[in-house]
Parts: sequence; C-alpha cells; structure tokens
Amino acid sequence: MGNILIRDTLLVTVDELRPGYFFGDILVQGDKIARISEHPEKIDFKTAGLVIDGKNLLVMPGLVNTHGHAAMTLFRSYADDLPLFEWLEEKIWPIEKHLTADDIYWGSMLAICEMLKGGTTTFKDMYFFMDQVAEAAAVSGIRAFLSRGMIGIGDSAATSLKETEQFIQNWHGAEGGRINVTLGPHAPYTCPPPYLEKVMNLATKSGRSLQIHLSETKREVEESIAQHGVSPIELVYRLGLFDHKVTAAHCVHVSERDIEMIAEKQVGVAHNPGSNLKLGSGVAPVAQMLAKGIKVGIGTDGASSNNNLDMFEELRLASLLAKGLATDPTLVDAKTALRMATVTGAEALFLEDCGSLKEGWKADLVGLRLDVPHMTPMHDPTAQVVYAASAADVDLVLVDGRLVLEKGELKTIDEAKVRAEAARCAARLVGVVAEKEGK
Ligand code: NI
Repeated sequence: MGNILIRDTLLVTVDELRPGYFFGDILVQGDKIARISEHPEKIDFKTAGLVIDGKNLLVMPGLVNTHGHAAMTLFRSYADDLPLFEWLEEKIWPIEKHLTADDIYWGSMLAICEMLKGGTTTFKDMYFFMDQVAEAAAVSGIRAFLSRGMIGIGDSAATSLKETEQFIQNWHGAEGGRINVTLGPHAPYTCPPPYLEKVMNLATKSGRSLQIHLSETKREVEESIAQHGVSPIELVYRLGLFDHKVTAAHCVHVSERDIEMIAEKQVGVAHNPGSNLKLGSGVAPVAQMLAKGIKVGIGTDGASSNNNLDMFEELRLASLLAKGLATDPTLVDAKTALRMATVTGAEALFLEDCGSLKEGWKADLVGLRLDVPHMTPMHDPTAQVVYAASAADVDLVLVDGRLVLEKGELKTIDEAKVRAEAARCAARLVGVVAEKEGK
C-alpha cells in the first residue's frame, strides 16, 4: 500500500478540534491518515506514490452503517407495504429458509457494491452463512462488523452458538483488523432469557461485543410486558446483557426509564429511520437519546425493508424526522446528523480511531463530486452533505488506506458480474418458493 495524497480539496473533517471545513491536503500512509494540512500550508506531493487532484471534491470521513442484513438485497422489493410481523412470518422467513451459501455471497457482494459506491466504508451485519459475508468483505476491501444471527428457539439455537464461536476463530481480526466478529442474538422475543445467558457467557469468554434488535415495534414491547412484566430493554438490562458492550438496533418504542438504562450502561444505538418508517414501526426518540449522551449511529437495516442502502438518505431522514416530530428545526442539526453517520456511529460499534479525518486515525474517507447542480453554491459544506448530497455524488472511496472506488468505479469488484450473479440467485429463490407453495 503506497502513500496517497489528495491535494487542493475541500475537507470536512468531523473533528471537534478543527474548523468544520477548510481547503487543504490529506496524506494517507498505509492504513492511517498521516497528515492533514490547511492551506496555505501544503504537503509536498513528492512524498506520495499516488497524487489525486481533489479540486472538484469534498472529502469527508466514510459513512458507518451501524445495522443491516447485507444479503437481504436479494429480497429488495420482494415484500413491501406490510407490518413487520407479517412481513417476517409470511414473506421473509419462508424465502430465507432456501438461502444457500452461494446466495449469501452474491447478495452480500451486491450490498457491498452499493454501500461502497454510496460512501459507506464500515458496515455492521447480522445474518447467516457468515463465512461468505466475511469473504465478500475481505475481497471488496470494506470494513465489517459481522454477527452470526442467533435465534434461541427452534433447531438452530445450539448450532448458531457453535457457529459463532467458530466464526470468531476463523475471522475475527482478519485482513489487518478490518474484519471484526461480534455476537448477534436476534432479539429478546426470539432469544429467551436462558439462551441470552449462554450468549453472555460466550461474550465473556470471547471478549466480543454484541448487537441485538430491541423495542423495534409497539407489539414487541406489549408482548414483553405481558410475558415478563417489563419492557424488552429492562428485561435484558436485568439479565446483565448491558454489562457487555452492546449495540442496540432500533429502540423505537422506549420509555424514559429505558433511555436511562441505555445511557447508564453506555449502550450504542443503531437508528434505522427508513426501515422503521417503511415497516410502520414508528420513529425512535433520537433527540432525547442524544441529549442523554447516548451514542446514536445510523443504519439502513436490510434492503428488503428500506429498500436501498443509501446512508445519505438515512442521515437526512434522521435529522428531518427529529425536527418534524417535535416541530423544532434546531433538533439534530446538520453537524449532529453528520457525526451520527460517521464518528458517533463508529463509537456505537465500539470502533476506535475511525469516523473523523484526524492524523493517526484510520484512513476511511470518501470524496463527493462538487460539479453537480445540487452541490452549488457551497455556503456551508456540512449542511450541503446532510441536506443536499446523495450516494450518487460519491466519486472516491478509501478504506483502511486502500483505494476501492475511483472516479465512481469500483476497483476491487467486478460490479457487472455481481449484479448478474445476484439477479440469478434472487430468481432461483423466488422460483423455489413458488414451487413449494404449489403456485
Ligand atoms: Ni435488523
């Protein structure tokens, strides 16, 4: 990996210690940001193996997608306009039964193509056949936090724990630390307390963090109160789950008491505004959580409930929803929304030294094109990124110091092949389901 210098560019650092934006140069050495200069001070271009002219770019940290199910790209627009439980039980679970390792590989690759092209440099995934997801992440160059999703009821309960243990051994820390393995108990309603105890034992033994879906729907909370007498969040709090490093996905239906528990235990939250809206689940009280100091990152969730993986759309939604719901335009301002999608998202995943453009931090960065109508003029670059930019503006992506997207083209993946293979897998799956149902 040679040195890469991006010269004469507009830098949005998302670093509290620097001005919000300035013109300068940024030098990457190995997997790290080695130097950032602010003009008129310039970095000597002779120090770099590759010099990129950044005049037409806005360079910012890569986006961190804190929650998703990558291979669900295969079910994009397969089941829409349904409530969560109907969507899951009648459409998604019946087709997921037929997924093969090959499907997962190509579905994940498709997701990674979309994410990298849209400026996402880190993603969190919870699914199965995780060796294939890790392989796709390894080949593509993206940073990944991967969990074998665990369901504590039914046949797969014991095997998914074993598979998780094996998966940690096989992949955690691979690719120079770019691939991370975490534990993925699906949710309290699919993982009863005795099972969660086993998951926590593995967390203690392995030292790995966890991700779990919590309080996504009103029904989930009502059923937890009926069955256990407490909310899903209080249930896992009492079990001691939050004594581990936990990222909680959704947290839509949370009480003040729930928020207190999340804050007390420094649980990271993955806010998925698009998916929550589309499934009619509601809107998480993000402004209240942020006010309590909770690390709230942003996620797309799977492409079957979104239906794309465009983090720009999500960060804009996060800001607009908070304002609109409270009729207060000052809430989740542009700076906060951009932090949520970058450095705060990294913190919510317990990922250190990533998510800001800072010397010594990981060189995960993206360049957005400026020569498009909606990026002109440029009074406030942070506001422009949050309220005007989109995934289609991404022109340049570096992950871990490696150039993975240049002039909008993927360098590590044959995109046309990935699209063809994913379409083949999706068509086969739909065919199998139609046959089983005798249609
Ligand atoms: Ni999810």
